[in-house]
Amino acid sequence: MECCRVLMIAIVALMLLFPVTDAWGIDGHDIVCNIAQSRLNEAAADIVQELLPKSAENDLGSVCSWADQVKFRYHWSSPLHYVNTPDVCNYNFERDCKDDNGEQGRCVAGAVQNYTKQLLTIGSNEGSSYNLTEALLFYSHFMGDIHQPLHAGFASDKGGNTIEVHWYTRKQNLHHIWDDNIIETAEERYYNSNVAGMIDAIQKNITTEWADQVKDWESCSYTDTTCADVIPRLLQIQIKRLVLCRYASEGIQAACDWAYKGAAEGSVLKDEYFLSRLPIVNTRLAQAGVRLAAILNHYFK
Ligand SMILES: *[C@@H]1O[C@H](CO)[C@@H](O)[C@H](O)[C@H]1NC(C)=O
Ligand SMILES: *[C@@H]1O[C@H](CO)[C@@H](O)[C@H](O)[C@H]1NC(C)=O
Ligand SMILES: *[C@@H]1O[C@H](CO)[C@@H](O)[C@H](O)[C@H]1NC(C)=O
Repeated sequence: MECCRVLMIAIVALMLLFPVTDAWGIDGHDIVCNIAQSRLNEAAADIVQELLPKSAENDLGSVCSWADQVKFRYHWSSPLHYVNTPDVCNYNFERDCKDDNGEQGRCVAGAVQNYTKQLLTIGSNEGSSYNLTEALLFYSHFMGDIHQPLHAGFASDKGGNTIEVHWYTRKQNLHHIWDDNIIETAEERYYNSNVAGMIDAIQKNITTEWADQVKDWESCSYTDTTCADVIPRLLQIQIKRLVLCRYASEGIQAACDWAYKGAAEGSVLKDEYFLSRLPIVNTRLAQAGVRLAAILNHYFK
């Protein structure tokens, strides 16, 4: 009996020491939503507070992975987390944004557009036909996903899911490395395994290192010449397609330049890959958070 109790305690202790991390993973989304919530104007912050479930205690980050948890219950939502190209490094809405049945718009870019449009109906009669809490949670999650380079990847390898590599000594697929492992390794190495430390470090760079670029990231959410007259036609679906084209285009470009490069089947990815890709991950997390907030701030002033 005594032996078993000792064993039990040892097992529990080990579980506490090495928690199963499923950290964009949980931490990636948490980072994006934390950055976003801290940048909201008063009106947008109020609306977010009102829409969040009470249990979230006004912490958007805590429910930013809700969309992953309901993937099986809401089976229809699983194609909305990504977009794949026919193995080319550019994105095209007509060609790429559809599900396996070929239904147009059913991809992550279409989903961001769908849920921003629903959020815009808040306070109107039409608004009552949507569950706007779900719209906020989906929108916040998909703004994160669309910025994860391999959520805009190649169709043939399902965004890196079928590419088996090693992350240091562990077997892993390439998609998972970009969802979780790069972030996890950064947290372990630089932030005491603490997501809050990583959020602070990215926030700091948003206000210093990247301050100039941040203005560009923000404006591309709704103005910017390349995003073409978004303001006057904001309420029309077609416009946001243009803007979102840019997010997804950036994604597939980063996937080609950084994620796929040097990561063929069977590769062993170590410091060289980690250290050169981490800045890309940090920047994409920052862009996602800044843009998530900028769109809400623009809608709700
Ligand atoms: C739009 O949102 C509705 C409500 O959640 C959902 O049923 C539909 O599948 C969504 N479509 C896209 C493309 O996101
Ligand atoms: C809206 O969605 C949330 C999350 O799924 C759910 O808890 C809530 O009951 C829904 N609200 C309504 C009015 O259906
Ligand atoms: C912040 O910027 C500095 C200087 O470019 C860089 O060394 C550091 O890795 C960056 N940190 C994050 C979290 O982006």
